[in-house]
Amino acid sequence: MDKKELGIYIHIPFCKKKCEYCDFVSFENCSENIQEEYVKCLIKEIQYNIDIGIFNNYRITTIYIGGGTPSYIKSKYIEGILKKIYEIIPNNELENTEITLEINPGTLTNEKLENYKQSKINRISIGVQSTNNTLLKMLGRIHTYEEFYENYKLLKNTGFSNINVDFMIGLPNQTLDDIQKCIEQIKMLSPKHVSVYSLILEENTKLFDKINSNELEVPNEDLERKMYWKIKKELENLGYIHYEISNFAKKGYFSKHNLNCWEQKEYIGFGVNAHSYLNRIRFSNTENIKEYIKNINEKNYLENRKIHEIQTIEEEQNEFMLLGLRKIKGVSINSFKEKFNKNPLFLYKEIIVKLEKEGLLKVEQDNICLTSKGIDCANLVWVEFV
Ligand SMILES: C[S@@+](CC[C@H](N)C(=O)[O-])C[C@H]1O[C@@H](n2cnc3c(N)ncnc32)[C@H](O)[C@@H]1O
Ligand code: SF4
Repeated sequence: MDKKELGIYIHIPFCKKKCEYCDFVSFENCSENIQEEYVKCLIKEIQYNIDIGIFNNYRITTIYIGGGTPSYIKSKYIEGILKKIYEIIPNNELENTEITLEINPGTLTNEKLENYKQSKINRISIGVQSTNNTLLKMLGRIHTYEEFYENYKLLKNTGFSNINVDFMIGLPNQTLDDIQKCIEQIKMLSPKHVSVYSLILEENTKLFDKINSNELEVPNEDLERKMYWKIKKELENLGYIHYEISNFAKKGYFSKHNLNCWEQKEYIGFGVNAHSYLNRIRFSNTENIKEYIKNINEKNYLENRKIHEIQTIEEEQNEFMLLGLRKIKGVSINSFKEKFNKNPLFLYKEIIVKLEKEGLLKVEQDNICLTSKGIDCANLVWVEFV
């Protein structure tokens, strides 16, 4: 029997300093001892899952080490985690496995990069967010654009060619001129992949408080959308393919890890707050690092887990639509038929007709996808499938 595909996500919840807008589970100022103990627990958690046979029916196709800031901790820790995972991947499959590491400017050294290379990491995702140093400072980033640029060159010199760069739009005081400068730098650096995220104002962040107290102001929706469509147009002119609402890549460089998520493939996450999707069950680990470490050391592995959803077939189908519509190509009608033995055009007839009338959705050959208006008003589409 063919083995099913599985992605692995590893969460490293440490950062040198917390950014003003960030709501990800990550902690600043954690001692070296905690970092070391955490990595030991991560490896124990992976070993436990190997021992109970979780991986037996699967073929690992992607590994994603995210955070937090994975490049903040010692590179030997990353090496140790990957070594444990490689025990379950046959050598001849390893070279086809997409192995991504998230890194931050201001946390890199030559030695770390060499070590990553030796650890077979073959894709790097680096966050710059903006080329404007005043905006970077306002966001609480630990680096300038120039420092990012030096790190980017270092990455290239170490032999990393598959690089993603993260940018953010809709930031307080950001202008269309800032966006133009980002585009010029993207043109010069020519990364294989670019992610463009619209700022989400998260409660419990410093930025949220500053906006609420009118200390800072975010651009209005009209300007934020102009930024988005400008970046989209210019990146397409530079040869990038817009393949998901926030993601652009040169041909052959779509992120397999991300695509698998949008195509509702299975993945398992290890570490604090790591999410998993296995056998139609969505679950995640505790966000509390002390609790995580304690449970692992006491061999109470499952105590860390919280189940969010055990999907019925209907819920699985709705989610397949919801996730698939994030892709610019949309949901493949044939893929839906293959997976569920049903035609989505009949199953979702009323919703599709309604959204088509509203100009938010279109059906093109094998695909159901968002229109330009649908991309701008995606929330109106998502609510129909929940
Ligand atoms: C997992 S995060 C962090 C990666 C890495 N530590 C960094 O800061 O570059 C990945 C990306 O999400 C984006 N991001 C984080 N918080 C966000 C927010 N509140 N709104 C929009 N995008 C956000 C940033 O572009 C960031 O690079
Ligand atoms: S470095 Fe990345 S993960 Fe850490 S606080 Fe900043 S945005 Fe969040």
